[in-house]
Amino acid sequence: MIRKAIIPAAGLGTRLLPTTKEMPKEMLPVFDKGANGQGCVKPLLQVVFEQLYNFGLREFCFVVGRGKRAIEDHFTQDYGFVGMLRSHGRNDLADGLESFYRKLDGSAIVWINQPEPLGFGDAVLRAGPFVGNEEFIVNAGDTSVLSEGSDHIRRLAAAYEGYSCDAALLVQEVEDPRKYGVVQAEAVADGVLKVKAIEEKPDRPRSNLAVIPIYAFHPTIFKALEVSSTGKGGERQLTDGIQTMIDWGLKVYAVKRKEGETSLDIGGAETYWRALQETYRTIVT
Ligand code: UTP
Repeated sequence: MIRKAIIPAAGLGTRLLPTTKEMPKEMLPVFDKGANGQGCVKPLLQVVFEQLYNFGLREFCFVVGRGKRAIEDHFTQDYGFVGMLRSHGRNDLADGLESFYRKLDGSAIVWINQPEPLGFGDAVLRAGPFVGNEEFIVNAGDTSVLSEGSDHIRRLAAAYEGYSCDAALLVQEVEDPRKYGVVQAEAVADGVLKVKAIEEKPDRPRSNLAVIPIYAFHPTIFKALEVSSTGKGGERQLTDGIQTMIDWGLKVYAVKRKEGETSLDIGGAETYWRALQETYRTIVT
Protein backbone atom coordinates (compact mmCIF):
# COMPACT_ATOMS: atom_id res chain seq x y z
CA MET A 1 0.00 0.00 0.00
CA ILE A 2 1.42 3.38 -1.03
CA ARG A 3 1.21 5.84 1.89
CA LYS A 4 3.56 8.70 1.05
CA ALA A 5 3.90 11.44 -1.57
CA ILE A 6 6.75 13.69 -2.62
CA ILE A 7 5.71 16.98 -4.21
CA PRO A 8 8.65 18.82 -5.82
CA ALA A 9 8.02 22.57 -5.88
CA ALA A 10 11.50 24.07 -5.83
CA GLY A 11 11.96 24.92 -9.53
CA LEU A 12 12.74 28.46 -10.69
CA GLY A 13 9.71 28.75 -12.96
CA THR A 14 11.68 30.80 -15.47
CA ARG A 15 9.07 30.30 -18.20
CA LEU A 16 6.61 32.36 -16.16
CA LEU A 17 8.90 35.28 -15.27
CA PRO A 18 8.47 37.97 -14.08
CA THR A 19 5.42 36.62 -12.14
CA THR A 20 7.50 33.84 -10.60
CA LYS A 21 10.42 36.03 -9.48
CA GLU A 22 9.07 36.22 -5.90
CA MET A 23 5.93 34.07 -6.19
CA PRO A 24 6.11 30.26 -6.45
CA LYS A 25 4.52 29.17 -9.74
CA GLU A 26 2.94 26.25 -7.87
CA MET A 27 0.79 28.85 -6.01
CA LEU A 28 -0.73 30.18 -9.25
CA PRO A 29 -4.49 29.71 -9.19
CA VAL A 30 -6.81 27.61 -11.28
CA PHE A 31 -10.59 27.45 -11.00
CA ASP A 32 -12.16 24.83 -8.75
CA LYS A 33 -15.70 23.85 -7.70
CA GLY A 34 -15.00 24.86 -4.07
CA ALA A 35 -16.44 23.42 -0.84
CA ASN A 36 -20.07 24.31 -1.62
CA GLY A 37 -19.84 23.92 -5.39
CA GLN A 38 -20.06 27.70 -5.86
CA GLY A 39 -16.70 27.99 -7.67
CA CYS A 40 -13.47 29.47 -6.39
CA VAL A 41 -9.87 30.12 -7.39
CA LYS A 42 -7.36 27.79 -5.76
CA PRO A 43 -3.56 27.42 -5.96
CA LEU A 44 -2.74 24.45 -8.21
CA LEU A 45 -0.56 23.03 -5.42
CA GLN A 46 -3.62 22.82 -3.16
CA VAL A 47 -5.47 20.92 -5.91
CA VAL A 48 -2.51 18.49 -6.11
CA PHE A 49 -2.45 18.00 -2.31
CA GLU A 50 -6.23 17.51 -2.06
CA GLN A 51 -6.26 14.93 -4.86
CA LEU A 52 -3.53 12.90 -3.14
CA TYR A 53 -5.33 13.29 0.19
CA ASN A 54 -8.64 12.18 -1.34
CA PHE A 55 -6.86 9.15 -2.79
CA GLY A 56 -5.96 8.24 0.80
CA LEU A 57 -2.40 9.49 1.36
CA ARG A 58 -1.62 11.21 4.68
CA GLU A 59 2.16 11.71 4.58
CA PHE A 60 3.50 14.43 2.32
CA CYS A 61 6.93 15.85 1.60
CA PHE A 62 7.13 19.19 -0.20
CA VAL A 63 10.50 20.00 -1.74
CA VAL A 64 10.91 23.78 -1.69
CA GLY A 65 13.68 26.35 -2.06
CA ARG A 66 14.43 30.03 -1.81
CA GLY A 67 11.42 32.23 -2.51
CA LYS A 68 8.91 29.44 -1.80
CA ARG A 69 7.83 30.42 1.74
CA ALA A 70 4.36 31.42 0.49
CA ILE A 71 3.79 27.68 0.04
CA GLU A 72 4.61 26.91 3.68
CA ASP A 73 2.34 29.75 4.86
CA HIS A 74 -0.53 28.55 2.68
CA PHE A 75 -0.19 25.02 4.07
CA THR A 76 -0.27 26.24 7.70
CA GLN A 77 -3.71 26.22 9.30
CA ASP A 78 -5.14 29.61 10.34
CA TYR A 79 -8.41 28.88 12.15
CA GLY A 80 -8.44 32.47 13.49
CA PHE A 81 -8.93 33.66 9.92
CA VAL A 82 -11.72 31.10 9.39
CA GLY A 83 -13.42 32.48 12.54
CA MET A 84 -13.04 36.05 11.24
CA LEU A 85 -14.72 35.07 7.93
CA ARG A 86 -17.60 33.47 9.86
CA SER A 87 -18.02 36.54 12.10
CA HIS A 88 -18.35 38.60 8.90
CA GLY A 89 -21.08 36.24 7.67
CA ARG A 90 -18.85 34.68 4.96
CA ASN A 91 -19.59 31.04 5.80
CA ASP A 92 -19.33 30.17 2.09
CA LEU A 93 -15.65 31.17 2.05
CA ALA A 94 -14.94 29.87 5.56
CA ASP A 95 -16.24 26.39 4.66
CA GLY A 96 -13.74 25.99 1.82
CA LEU A 97 -10.77 27.09 3.89
CA GLU A 98 -11.83 25.00 6.88
CA SER A 99 -12.21 21.89 4.75
CA PHE A 100 -8.61 22.39 3.49
CA TYR A 101 -7.34 22.95 7.06
CA ARG A 102 -9.08 19.75 8.26
CA LYS A 103 -7.14 17.85 5.60
CA LEU A 104 -3.92 19.46 6.87
CA ASP A 105 -4.91 18.46 10.44
CA GLY A 106 -5.14 14.86 9.24
CA SER A 107 -1.77 14.91 7.48
CA ALA A 108 1.90 14.78 8.40
CA ILE A 109 3.79 17.30 6.27
CA VAL A 110 7.55 17.44 5.91
CA TRP A 111 9.44 20.30 4.23
CA ILE A 112 12.74 19.61 2.53
CA ASN A 113 14.92 22.33 1.05
CA GLN A 114 16.55 22.10 -2.32
CA PRO A 115 18.92 25.06 -2.03
CA GLU A 116 19.76 25.11 -5.74
CA PRO A 117 17.39 24.04 -8.52
CA LEU A 118 19.56 21.17 -9.76
CA GLY A 119 16.67 19.37 -11.43
CA PHE A 120 13.45 17.43 -10.86
CA GLY A 121 15.49 14.26 -10.18
CA ASP A 122 17.63 16.08 -7.62
CA ALA A 123 14.48 17.33 -5.86
CA VAL A 124 13.15 13.75 -5.60
CA LEU A 125 16.54 12.43 -4.44
CA ARG A 126 16.61 14.95 -1.58
CA ALA A 127 13.33 13.53 -0.26
CA GLY A 128 14.89 10.05 0.16
CA PRO A 129 15.11 10.24 3.98
CA PHE A 130 11.36 11.00 4.15
CA VAL A 131 10.52 7.92 2.11
CA GLY A 132 12.93 5.45 3.72
CA ASN A 133 12.29 1.96 2.42
CA GLU A 134 8.71 2.50 1.25
CA GLU A 135 7.08 2.87 -2.13
CA PHE A 136 5.72 6.34 -2.84
CA ILE A 137 4.04 8.73 -5.28
CA VAL A 138 5.76 11.72 -6.90
CA ASN A 139 3.50 14.49 -8.20
CA ALA A 140 5.15 17.58 -9.71
CA GLY A 141 3.86 20.69 -7.96
CA ASP A 142 2.89 22.35 -11.24
CA THR A 143 0.92 19.45 -12.74
CA SER A 144 -2.41 17.78 -12.13
CA VAL A 145 -5.00 15.70 -13.94
CA LEU A 146 -8.70 16.39 -13.57
CA SER A 147 -10.28 12.99 -13.11
CA GLU A 148 -13.39 11.67 -11.40
CA GLY A 149 -12.45 10.99 -7.75
CA SER A 150 -8.65 11.15 -8.40
CA ASP A 151 -9.08 8.09 -10.63
CA HIS A 152 -5.77 8.72 -12.45
CA ILE A 153 -3.89 8.24 -9.15
CA ARG A 154 -5.94 5.15 -8.33
CA ARG A 155 -5.09 3.61 -11.75
CA LEU A 156 -1.41 4.50 -11.34
CA ALA A 157 -1.23 2.86 -7.90
CA ALA A 158 -3.25 -0.14 -9.16
CA ALA A 159 -0.81 -0.67 -12.06
CA TYR A 160 2.19 -0.26 -9.73
CA GLU A 161 0.83 -2.87 -7.34
CA GLY A 162 -0.91 -5.14 -9.87
CA TYR A 163 2.14 -5.55 -12.11
CA SER A 164 4.56 -5.59 -9.13
CA CYS A 165 6.60 -2.96 -10.90
CA ASP A 166 9.45 -0.76 -9.77
CA ALA A 167 8.09 2.39 -11.36
CA ALA A 168 4.76 3.40 -12.91
CA LEU A 169 4.10 6.66 -14.69
CA LEU A 170 1.25 8.50 -16.37
CA VAL A 171 1.43 9.22 -20.10
CA GLN A 172 -0.65 10.99 -22.71
CA GLU A 173 -0.55 11.23 -26.49
CA VAL A 174 0.60 14.65 -27.68
CA GLU A 175 1.19 16.18 -31.11
CA ASP A 176 4.73 17.46 -30.46
CA PRO A 177 6.46 15.36 -27.78
CA ARG A 178 9.85 17.07 -28.09
CA LYS A 179 9.37 19.20 -24.98
CA TYR A 180 8.39 16.27 -22.74
CA GLY A 181 9.79 13.03 -21.39
CA VAL A 182 8.89 10.47 -24.08
CA VAL A 183 8.38 6.72 -23.65
CA GLN A 184 8.72 3.83 -26.04
CA ALA A 185 6.26 1.26 -24.79
CA GLU A 186 4.04 -1.66 -25.74
CA ALA A 187 0.47 -2.18 -24.62
CA VAL A 188 -0.13 -5.00 -22.13
CA ALA A 189 -3.74 -4.22 -21.22
CA ASP A 190 -6.36 -1.58 -21.86
CA GLY A 191 -4.67 1.73 -20.93
CA VAL A 192 -1.52 0.06 -19.52
CA LEU A 193 1.85 -0.21 -21.29
CA LYS A 194 5.23 -1.78 -20.52
CA VAL A 195 7.95 0.85 -20.93
CA LYS A 196 11.00 -0.21 -22.96
CA ALA A 197 12.79 3.14 -22.99
CA ILE A 198 12.32 6.71 -21.82
CA GLU A 199 14.07 9.89 -22.91
CA GLU A 200 13.90 13.50 -21.71
CA LYS A 201 12.98 16.09 -24.37
CA PRO A 202 14.31 14.05 -27.33
CA ASP A 203 15.16 15.77 -30.63
CA ARG A 204 13.78 12.72 -32.44
CA PRO A 205 10.96 11.28 -30.31
CA ARG A 206 10.41 7.54 -30.69
CA SER A 207 6.67 7.88 -30.00
CA ASN A 208 4.08 10.53 -29.26
CA LEU A 209 3.58 9.24 -25.70
CA ALA A 210 4.59 12.06 -23.36
CA VAL A 211 5.12 11.69 -19.62
CA ILE A 212 2.75 13.49 -17.24
CA PRO A 213 4.97 14.02 -14.16
CA ILE A 214 2.97 11.88 -11.74
CA TYR A 215 4.64 8.58 -10.76
CA ALA A 216 4.67 5.66 -8.34
CA PHE A 217 8.11 4.39 -7.31
CA HIS A 218 9.94 1.67 -5.45
CA PRO A 219 12.77 3.30 -3.42
CA THR A 220 15.30 1.78 -5.87
CA ILE A 221 14.76 4.99 -7.87
CA PHE A 222 17.08 6.73 -5.37
CA LYS A 223 19.97 4.38 -6.20
CA ALA A 224 19.21 4.85 -9.90
CA LEU A 225 19.23 8.65 -9.54
CA GLU A 226 22.52 8.57 -7.65
CA VAL A 227 24.31 6.74 -10.47
CA SER A 228 22.63 8.54 -13.39
CA SER A 229 24.78 11.23 -14.94
CA THR A 230 23.69 14.83 -15.35
CA GLY A 231 21.03 15.07 -18.02
CA LYS A 232 19.26 17.61 -20.28
CA GLY A 233 19.80 21.22 -19.27
CA GLY A 234 22.69 20.23 -16.96
CA GLU A 235 20.11 19.03 -14.41
CA ARG A 236 19.56 15.69 -12.67
CA GLN A 237 16.55 14.32 -14.56
CA LEU A 238 14.05 11.88 -13.07
CA THR A 239 13.64 10.45 -16.58
CA ASP A 240 17.31 9.39 -16.63
CA GLY A 241 16.83 7.64 -13.29
CA ILE A 242 13.88 5.72 -14.75
CA GLN A 243 15.96 4.73 -17.82
CA THR A 244 18.66 3.46 -15.45
CA MET A 245 16.01 1.30 -13.74
CA ILE A 246 15.06 -0.10 -17.16
CA ASP A 247 18.76 -0.75 -17.94
CA TRP A 248 18.97 -2.72 -14.68
CA GLY A 249 16.12 -4.94 -15.91
CA LEU A 250 13.56 -3.49 -13.48
CA LYS A 251 9.91 -3.25 -14.42
CA VAL A 252 8.50 0.11 -15.52
CA TYR A 253 4.89 0.49 -16.65
CA ALA A 254 2.85 3.41 -17.95
CA VAL A 255 -0.81 4.23 -17.46
CA LYS A 256 -2.58 6.26 -20.13
CA ARG A 257 -4.59 9.35 -19.31
CA LYS A 258 -8.20 8.58 -20.22
CA GLU A 259 -10.12 10.56 -22.77
CA GLY A 260 -12.27 13.01 -20.84
CA GLU A 261 -9.55 13.51 -18.21
CA THR A 262 -7.75 16.83 -18.55
CA SER A 263 -4.10 17.34 -17.72
CA LEU A 264 -3.24 20.68 -16.18
CA ASP A 265 0.30 22.01 -16.58
CA ILE A 266 0.82 25.52 -15.28
CA GLY A 267 4.58 25.57 -16.04
CA GLY A 268 4.38 27.60 -19.28
CA ALA A 269 2.25 30.57 -20.38
CA GLU A 270 0.32 28.67 -23.04
CA THR A 271 -0.33 25.55 -20.95
CA TYR A 272 -1.30 27.74 -17.97
CA TRP A 273 -3.83 29.56 -20.15
CA ARG A 274 -5.27 26.17 -21.19
CA ALA A 275 -5.42 25.09 -17.52
CA LEU A 276 -7.39 28.24 -16.70
CA GLN A 277 -9.82 27.63 -19.57
CA GLU A 278 -10.30 23.93 -18.76
CA THR A 279 -10.85 24.51 -15.03
CA TYR A 280 -13.16 27.47 -15.68
CA ARG A 281 -15.34 25.17 -17.81
CA THR A 282 -15.75 22.84 -14.81
CA ILE A 283 -17.29 25.61 -12.67
CA VAL A 284 -19.63 27.10 -15.28
CA THR A 285 -21.02 23.85 -16.74
P1 UTP B 1 9.99 22.19 -14.38
O1 UTP B 1 10.59 21.14 -15.20
O2 UTP B 1 8.80 22.87 -14.95
O3 UTP B 1 11.13 23.25 -14.04
O4 UTP B 1 9.64 21.57 -12.97
P2 UTP B 1 11.09 24.70 -13.41
O5 UTP B 1 12.49 25.04 -13.09
O6 UTP B 1 10.13 24.77 -12.27
O7 UTP B 1 10.49 25.65 -14.53
P3 UTP B 1 11.22 26.43 -15.73
O8 UTP B 1 11.61 25.39 -16.72
O9 UTP B 1 12.38 27.18 -15.14
O10 UTP B 1 10.15 27.35 -16.24
C1 UTP B 1 8.62 20.61 -12.74
C2 UTP B 1 8.35 20.54 -11.24
O11 UTP B 1 9.54 20.15 -10.55
C3 UTP B 1 9.93 21.13 -9.61
C4 UTP B 1 9.22 22.40 -10.03
O12 UTP B 1 9.00 23.24 -8.90
C5 UTP B 1 7.95 21.90 -10.66
O13 UTP B 1 6.90 21.75 -9.73
N1 UTP B 1 11.41 21.25 -9.64
C6 UTP B 1 12.07 21.44 -10.81
C7 UTP B 1 12.10 21.19 -8.44
O14 UTP B 1 11.51 21.00 -7.35
N2 UTP B 1 13.47 21.35 -8.47
C8 UTP B 1 14.16 21.55 -9.62
O15 UTP B 1 15.40 21.69 -9.56
C9 UTP B 1 13.44 21.59 -10.83
